[in-house]
Amino acid sequence: MKNSESYDFDTPVERRGTASMKWDKYKDKDIIPMWVADMDFRSPPAVIRAIQQRTAYGVFGYPRTPEELNDRVVSMLRETYDWSVKSEWLVWLPGLVTGLNVACRAVGIDGDDVMTTVPAYPPFLSAPGFSRRGLIKVPLKEKDNRWQFDFDRLEQMITDKTRMFILCNPHNPVGRVYTRKELAELAAICNKHDIVVCSDEIHCELILEKDKVHIPTANLDPEVAARTITLMAPSKTFNLPGLGCAFAVISEKKLRHQFKNAMAGIVPRPNVLGYAAAMAAFAESTDWHAALLDYLRGNLETIASAMRQMPPLSMAPVEATYLAWIDMRSSGIKSPARFFEEAGVGLQDGIEFDGPGFARLNFGCSRSLLEKALERMRVAMENFRG
Ligand SMILES: Cc1ncc(COP(=O)(O)O)c(C=O)c1O
Repeated sequence: MKNSESYDFDTPVERRGTASMKWDKYKDKDIIPMWVADMDFRSPPAVIRAIQQRTAYGVFGYPRTPEELNDRVVSMLRETYDWSVKSEWLVWLPGLVTGLNVACRAVGIDGDDVMTTVPAYPPFLSAPGFSRRGLIKVPLKEKDNRWQFDFDRLEQMITDKTRMFILCNPHNPVGRVYTRKELAELAAICNKHDIVVCSDEIHCELILEKDKVHIPTANLDPEVAARTITLMAPSKTFNLPGLGCAFAVISEKKLRHQFKNAMAGIVPRPNVLGYAAAMAAFAESTDWHAALLDYLRGNLETIASAMRQMPPLSMAPVEATYLAWIDMRSSGIKSPARFFEEAGVGLQDGIEFDGPGFARLNFGCSRSLLEKALERMRVAMENFRG
């Protein structure tokens, strides 16, 4: 059995020239890419081995979902969250964003409304429109240095056509792990107004604050479960986004059929390598996962201390994810992403998340690269302040 020290997150992996979306954006430019949410780390050794074995076999016919993968997910959800799920509730998908769009089409009819909070992961903002639904954006509020739901405002903004609420928990980009109390209050409002919850929990295994726990929305109680579509994936935790593998958990039969009907003829299953990687990630990568979390916690400390040297920039605590949401509103910098690109760091502009005046920094990278980027940012801020 390996201990945490056996995994090397420190040695940078060369990603240039590998058709990486993240790195090719700044091809031939001296800009450190810290935008889209993939990490610069190799996946767990067990995942790499599983893929090598699968490719060595060399036959790539149509797959069916491996029975043992369903069983593994069911036991993982029970062991990790004390959540009892049946394997027939699982619907496999070639990506979680696919699931968001399918959910929007599966619930209600054209012209209905979908609600979410802002700032939001950009596909939350585009999926309703792609699905001929209206979008209602409720701002999160900042209170006690944490981003929180504004329940009064949220309830006021519900229309008689609001059929679904898209929740992100843990939250990208603000890094919150919502408490049981917060989730219960949200669920009660959704119950009262007959709203289905689409709960994107892709970041649930990236909890950095040690006293926080992830609570699957559907595990609050059976009534909530009956109106919840949970979306999960191994892709963020184990760095497999290029392998396209995710799943929905839908306990309510009618809702599950609506979801499957919306997929019919359009959405393929994951591919053979995605399945192989998911199995190895869930079954054999616990130590790697623990080591990753330790490393990310160290990166987060590095950012927090660097931020203190960059007034007036600030950042709310990152309870989960490897994404820091940097508040630049009081700096007077008009275009946060452009400003830091000019300084050689590629962040993602808050405007894309409906969070103008913010920038998102992906710290899923080697400590040395992170330190280099933070130093460039510090110098840029110093020069800016004059
Ligand atoms: C909240 C959230 N949902 C979904 C995704 C992407 O999922 P997929 O690559 O499986 O479509 C991301 C990626 O950053 C995300 O942050």
